Amino acid sequence: MPNPKFPIVVLISGSGSNLQALIDAVTCGDLNVEIRAVISNRPHAKGLQRARDAGIPAEVLDHTTFESREAFDQALQTLIDGFEPRLVVLAGFMRLLSDTFVAHYLGRMLNIHPSLLPAYTGLNTHRRVLDAGDQQHGASVHFVTAELDGGPLILQARVDVQPDDTPDSLAERVLEQEHKIYPLAVQWFAEGRLQLLDHHAWFDGKVLTQPLQYEALSVSDHTVSHDKA
Ligand code: GRF
Repeated sequence: MPNPKFPIVVLISGSGSNLQALIDAVTCGDLNVEIRAVISNRPHAKGLQRARDAGIPAEVLDHTTFESREAFDQALQTLIDGFEPRLVVLAGFMRLLSDTFVAHYLGRMLNIHPSLLPAYTGLNTHRRVLDAGDQQHGASVHFVTAELDGGPLILQARVDVQPDDTPDSLAERVLEQEHKIYPLAVQWFAEGRLQLLDHHAWFDGKVLTQPLQYEALSVSDHTVSHDKA
């Protein structure tokens, strides 16, 4: 009997390059999930077209048409749950989420953030890294909890800051890393290797006291197992 693919829903607000990385990983067989839907809170998000081009249902739920955050989050939850995902993937979804929403998806919602968390939560991370004179920067995948960009860390990738870097050049190199680590972390979750237990991320049955570092993974772990049964 063929295994049904692991169902996920991806939430976006903008360009959707991380969404594209997930789509590409599915296409090439590195990511064994079914992207049931892409949902954007912004009607003109470029990522919506990426979804349509890939034949994935692309939905808009415009937050500006709702009276309150709670009303939007309730409608979003209803929309997401209609697709029956086992994981919700935030990929540049630029909305603060209410505690009720986060609690509903606790342990089954991931986010990617453009910094080496816990450093630089929030916005403008590339500019802030340059202003601080840091020598390293990067991206982090984490479970979503009520604390903004503060949930248990799973996987990070690093880039060296160059003397002539601008926020844009840094963002570009960080995004390249994001496009490697996000499909990998989603695949791990789909394979059951990744869990949130007792407020900690667990990987292969061991609690992660530090996030996994992409550069330190063995090369065979950089691509995922191809279980296409
Ligand atoms: C990424 O840098 C991601 O880490 C952050 O928002 C950006 C989204 O980029 N949360 P994209 O829409 O995936 O291109």
